[in-house]
Formats: sequence, C-alpha cells, structure tokens
Amino acid sequence: MPIAPRRTLFTLAATACLAAQAQQPPLKVGLMLPFTGTYAALGDNIEKGFRLFVNEQGGKLGGREVQYFKVDDESEPAKATDNVNKLIKRDQVDVLVGSVHSGVALAMARAAKESNTLMIVPNAGADAITGAQCAPNIFRSSFSNWQPGYATGVVAAQKGHRRAMTITWNYAAGNETVKGFTEAFEKGGGKVIKDLSLPFPNVEFQALLTEIAAQKPDVVFAFFAGGGAVKFVKDYDAAGLKKTVPLMGSGFITDGTLEAQGASAQGLVTTLHYADNIETPRNTAFRNKFAVTFRTNPDVYAVQGYDAAQLLGVGLAAVKGDLARREPLYAAMNKALVDSPRGRFTLSPQRNPVQDFYIREVKGHYNVMTGIAVKALADPGRGCRH
Ligand code: BEZ
Repeated sequence: MPIAPRRTLFTLAATACLAAQAQQPPLKVGLMLPFTGTYAALGDNIEKGFRLFVNEQGGKLGGREVQYFKVDDESEPAKATDNVNKLIKRDQVDVLVGSVHSGVALAMARAAKESNTLMIVPNAGADAITGAQCAPNIFRSSFSNWQPGYATGVVAAQKGHRRAMTITWNYAAGNETVKGFTEAFEKGGGKVIKDLSLPFPNVEFQALLTEIAAQKPDVVFAFFAGGGAVKFVKDYDAAGLKKTVPLMGSGFITDGTLEAQGASAQGLVTTLHYADNIETPRNTAFRNKFAVTFRTNPDVYAVQGYDAAQLLGVGLAAVKGDLARREPLYAAMNKALVDSPRGRFTLSPQRNPVQDFYIREVKGHYNVMTGIAVKALADPGRGCRH
C-alpha cells in the first residue's frame, strides 16, 4: 500500500479538524435585559460586561462563535413570559442571560425550567431563583436579594444603631432585601420600627420622607437602584435628612449613579459584593479594559455581566461547545472558581455566588471599600430541592 507523504497527512488532519469545527454552529445567546426605563443603564452595563469577556476570548466560547439576540424587557413582569418566549421559541437561543428586575427574572426562570434552557441570571436577586424555584439549568452570577440586605444589617448593628426604618419599592427585590436586613439587624440587637414602601418604579418619596423625619430612627435602610436610586438619594438630602438620620443601603443605591447624585451621595455607607477600588491585578485590568473599550467606568452590573460570560465559558470549555452534554456542562459550572473582578467566588449547591460583601463609602466618584462586612456569605437557598 503506498504511503502518503507527511505533508499530505498533515493537510488531511488539518482539514478534518477544520471540518469538525465548521460543524459547530454559532452559540445563540439571548440577552433579555431592560434597555429602557429606570433600570436601562443597568441592562446596558451588563451587556457591555458580557461582550467584553467574549471579545477577550476572540468572540468565541467553547470554540463556538457567539451570536446575540436581544429583547428589551422594560423591567415589566407582565410582559416577561411573552418576551422570553421570543428568545426561546422564535430565536431558539441556546442560553438565556437575564434579567435585572426580580419579577421579570422569576418569569424567565419558569420558562427556562419548562423548556430546559440554560439560564444565567446576571443581576436579579429574587431569592426563589436559587431557592424554592431552583433548577439544575439555572445559575446566577450576581447575588440573592437576601445577601446584600443581610450584610448591611450586620454593619448597621455593629455601628451601634438600634432603631431602624426601611424604605423600598414594593416588589420581590425590595421586600426580600429588607427581610435580609431585618434578620441580621435584629440578630445584632437592633429593631426595625417601621417598613415603608411605594410601588415600583414610583419616585414620589415626599410623604415617606416626612414620616421618617417624624419618627427620627437611628438609621434608615434603603433599597433602590438605577434612576430611582438617583432621585431617592437627592430627595433624602434635599429633605434635610442626610444631616440628621444616617442613610444606609445595599450598594445599589450608589452604584452606577454617582455622577447623577453628586454631593447628595458623598459619605454614604453601603455594602455590596463589589467596590470600585479593589486593588487586585484582576480588577485593575478589568476596569482599564472596560474604560478603554466603552469610554465609561464599569460598575457592579458590568462585573456581573462579565462574570455571567465567564461562568458560561467554563461550562462550554468543559464540553467543547457541545451544549447537549448537560451533565458535564452543569458539573463544570457548579464547581467553577470564577476569577471575578470582585474577587474569586464559587457557587453554592443552589448555584448562587458565595462571595465577600464589602463595606463601601462614597468618596468623590467612587464607592471605596473601607472593610469587609461578611466574608464568603452564602445565601441559605431555602426551599431548593434540585
Ligand atoms: C432586582 O430586581 O432584583 C434588582 C434590581 C436592581 C438592582 C438589584 C436588584
């Protein structure tokens, strides 16, 4: 039998390899995020963070080129099922990434569970997503609402505050964050004397601020984010409360909002799983690359988007892009050690980040880390059976 020359063998092998790669269609990533409304800037930065990581990998994850499909969910839970079905049924995406608003993400998670679509939540903290409604195909690269609430409660009690009032939007994110705060604050010896709320995304705070002034608590705990957080922090200051009742919050009240809040935010103390000045080569490189690429500074939302792509990348690398291999895909994602700009994190058995929560203080245009509120805080994952 004639022996093929070495060059011919090499060419045959290379051709076979190229053919194998060519068989892999692009990876369809469905981004369901708010691009309008009070959370628009949050959705925008999540997308930027996600794309930044993919671009750093040459536009591919697990050897497959990434193709994006986008839906603006408007932070509107009533439209969420129709919106997510545009991605699942019409576009037939391989992976769902979303969303910001807890109510929207809960509807997405139901659809992802029913259709067995891989889903990564890059913000929304709804406790049930990695709790009672958990599923093996649903992961989170952000936090549960309980986590930042609990961490802030620890810090508020440590500061010696005893009588607290809370104020938030009346939906899952606000209510669950307040619950986490109350749990830790009361464990630390404090008492929440009154919970105030208004419907999402209402920003008519005046009557509630008047009530705070009348009750004179030691501290106010607030959950707001995006455009609503900008208005709340400014109104709190304008009402004269900043000078008399310390305002604390999960860090969403000052993240991505400082330019617009100006002097009203200076000195506010919050807790979150990210701070602008984390001095690690990983965070510095991320911040520089983000700023150069997008001509704007990153925030916690950009980090969570970046890490959603990292987590997906870990899973896809383990199965060489073959999403049908569910067991090894999930196993790799479950045991991932994500090298995040926030610091390395792992996932809980319910697939929610186990991560450090930082104490931050607003100084100039930055949320500056001043200490650690709770190390390696894990959501209890209540009710998760998968
Ligand atoms: C939420 O709805 O889960 C949420 C929105 C903005 C910031 C943090 C949480």
